[in-house]
Amino acid sequence: MTGSRRLLLVLGAVALSSPALASAELARSRNCTACHHAERRVIGPTYTAIAGRYADDAGAAERLAGRIIAGGGGNWGQTPMPAQPAVTREEAETLARWILSHR
Ligand code: HEC
Repeated sequence: MTGSRRLLLVLGAVALSSPALASAELARSRNCTACHHAERRVIGPTYTAIAGRYADDAGAAERLAGRIIAGGGGNWGQTPMPAQPAVTREEAETLARWILSHR
């Protein structure tokens, strides 16, 4: 086994044992990280900005899960977010809740 493979296995085990890390890995594997970063604005808004905006919004996780799958625009600026058809409803809710926890 190569060193990097062993490292990936270790990282995978750690990710599975921690919900936050598992979600971070999910965001990476679903390519969210191409446009989103926790604190640095890339193409989409930061996770902390999203969490801040919906802090008092009890239904936010469910609504954002729908927006993650369908995509959309006009909430944060001119650039729309493309639809993410590969993301399941369950994954979208996990990701939405994880993003909303960035405070
Ligand atoms: C190609 C770039 C791109 C990718 C890939 C992308 N996003 Fe976005 N995302 C954006 C942009 C741009 C916005 C702002 C849209 C707007 O102004 O309404 C956004 C907005 C959001 C919002 C806030 C929506 C709202 O209504 O406030 C969430 C949550 C979000 N993205 C999560 C995700 C997740 C999770 C993934 C991965 C499954 C993902 N994004 C992948 C570009 C992207």
